[in-house]
Amino acid sequence: MFDIHSHILPGIDDGAKDLAESLALLEIAQNDGITHMVATPHIHLGRFNNTITGINNDITALKSAAEDNGIFINLAVAAEIRLDVELMGLVLSNKLPFIGKVDNFNYMLLELPHSNVPQGFDKLITWLANKNIKVVIPHPERNRDIQSNPFYIQRLNQLGCEFQLTASSIEGAWGEAAKKISFNMLESNIVKYIATDAHSVKRRPPILSKAREIVSELIGSSKANEIFRKNPESLTKSLFNEK
Ligand SMILES: [Fe+2]
Repeated sequence: MFDIHSHILPGIDDGAKDLAESLALLEIAQNDGITHMVATPHIHLGRFNNTITGINNDITALKSAAEDNGIFINLAVAAEIRLDVELMGLVLSNKLPFIGKVDNFNYMLLELPHSNVPQGFDKLITWLANKNIKVVIPHPERNRDIQSNPFYIQRLNQLGCEFQLTASSIEGAWGEAAKKISFNMLESNIVKYIATDAHSVKRRPPILSKAREIVSELIGSSKANEIFRKNPESLTKSLFNEK
């Protein structure tokens, strides 16, 4: 399985605290059957000021520590980029990493604020599309505006966004509303990816197998295979080929 959203780089956001925790997370993932993992640290200006150079150095160090510790997961790096006013400037100066490149489109993992969908989101997504950037929305099911108004999902879908649900939402760890939206989206066939968004061994470990079982029961194992393997593999091919 592929996990395209995780906070496994040590000490640079609210994910793994140190290298020991990063390695512990990788071990959990490996034991769960995850073969490829993309580290997606937050880029959230003013809070987590991560840069392409910094995260590239960090993934190189983590790859070598993993190998030294007998962990053989394929690792790559991108970022979870927070939607805010600085975003357009960063895009124009090529300062943001993408989560994949497919057919001349770059894909951005673009995080909405947790509570709301900001005004003007549609204009920004259209602006990005005109720059050949497609948007993957992580964890829409956890956003409170979306929970109270499914219109946002329709609108984001119309704008060409892809959706990535959180594995633990499928299990019910984020409450009934998040679980219900996740199931509705799966049944409507608009979920492209499910990822762990792993942050820590205790709080959010990198486990996909439980969600995969539930999804297989809900929409069938062939559809589940697309969501947990085929779609993320196509999206991130360019990242893993850079090795
Ligand atoms: Fe995340």
